[in-house]
Amino acid sequence: MARFTVRACSLYILTSFAFLAQASYIQYSTVTGYFLQDEDSTDPSSFDYTAVNFGLINRTYDSDRLNPHKQQLTQWQRFYHKVVDLNRQSPQTTQYKVLFLGRHGEGWHNAAESYYGTPAWNCYWAELDGNGTTTWADAHLTPNGIAQAEKAHDFWQFELDEQHIHPPDSYFVSPLTRTLQTANVTFSGLRLPRGSTPFQPLIKEFFRESISIHTCDRRSNRTYIHALFPDWPIERGFTEYDELWTGVTGETSSAQDVRSKTALDSVFSNHNTGFFVSVTSHSGEISSILRVLGHRAFSLSTGAVIPVLVKAETVLDRPRPSTTTQPWTVSPHCTAPPVTSISAGCVCASSATPVTTPLVPTSA
Ligand SMILES: *[C@@H]1O[C@H](CO)[C@@H](O)[C@H](O)[C@H]1NC(C)=O
Ligand SMILES: *[C@@H]1O[C@H](CO)[C@@H](O)[C@H](O)[C@H]1NC(C)=O
Ligand SMILES: *[C@@H]1O[C@H](CO)[C@@H](O)[C@H](O)[C@H]1NC(C)=O
Ligand SMILES: *[C@@H]1O[C@H](CO)[C@@H](O)[C@H](O)[C@H]1NC(C)=O
Repeated sequence: MARFTVRACSLYILTSFAFLAQASYIQYSTVTGYFLQDEDSTDPSSFDYTAVNFGLINRTYDSDRLNPHKQQLTQWQRFYHKVVDLNRQSPQTTQYKVLFLGRHGEGWHNAAESYYGTPAWNCYWAELDGNGTTTWADAHLTPNGIAQAEKAHDFWQFELDEQHIHPPDSYFVSPLTRTLQTANVTFSGLRLPRGSTPFQPLIKEFFRESISIHTCDRRSNRTYIHALFPDWPIERGFTEYDELWTGVTGETSSAQDVRSKTALDSVFSNHNTGFFVSVTSHSGEISSILRVLGHRAFSLSTGAVIPVLVKAETVLDRPRPSTTTQPWTVSPHCTAPPVTSISAGCVCASSATPVTTPLVPTSA
């Protein structure tokens, strides 16, 4: 009898959740006025996040009045209280989080693109796994890339020690090797305050780089990823093999923004992710996340980090606004190094065949 009651009850809850899920959606915006990166006067190309306290603007907050000891608190401590206060004051359907979006350090694919030049890289070399001396398929970090991640590590430790910054309450990472390595070097071995969330990032498919036909955007299999970092959780449903990369068609920006939003929705729908969230990802993917958050464009150099104060409002009882996404497109390339690239594609050398059509899988 008792058992029947419990089951009926959970069935009821499930049904209402399904209803809610259909009739609600999350709307994101960036709250400006707190970080230099939000200001039009800040030039992303020369910005060094380690020189200016992550970009946190020196200012007072209305929540300072709640802190009797505000004189002794650092800017980051007072800002954390501000974020707590914003959440306390807001309706149930509104939440605020600070995302720390970190780009991986330099990978072998970045080095190769500089070496060959972008046209030759895009039109030919990037479609190969490597050139015999260097491998860039699912690229690993170069020594310079490891040094950039160590710089991020040292800066986090500095901020923890000097600013008493609140460390991330949760960590997420793209499944590509260069981001796994970057997150590891950045956050392993930090001396965190007692009670902090231990660093065990959730490996999440949808935080991966824009999926082009380049082999650096093809991820390794799950077995390999798990063997590299056996203690790190991998999200449910993560497939053994990469089922998204085709080597023929590339993801469009609008399609990418939809999956970036799906990833953000899962972070913001989970009540255990806390107010400060770290995401280790990629240049193209962080650009997409910033578009979804309504943040101005801010391109990061390899290894750099940008904090964003995000407001997420759950809009109830209204259908999700429809979004038009462009289907993935075939990416033209050449079968030998090209003459050059043009906005519409690649100009192949006379000896090379332009590849402009999808490969039709042959059935046995
Ligand atoms: C805030 O002030 C401190 C010195 O009090 C300075 O080191 C820091 O760079 C300033 N931050 C910004 C973002 O201007
Ligand atoms: C392969 O590319 C790297 C740059 O990433 C370069 O240093 C190396 O010389 C290239 N190897 C060959 C055989 O061209
Ligand atoms: C993780 O980072 C630590 C500290 O930098 C390093 O010693 C270790 O080799 C890294 N692990 C992997 C699998 O890269
Ligand atoms: C997974 O990838 C690794 C490294 O690329 C490879 O050695 C291994 O055979 C693959 N495992 C499976 C199950 O395909």
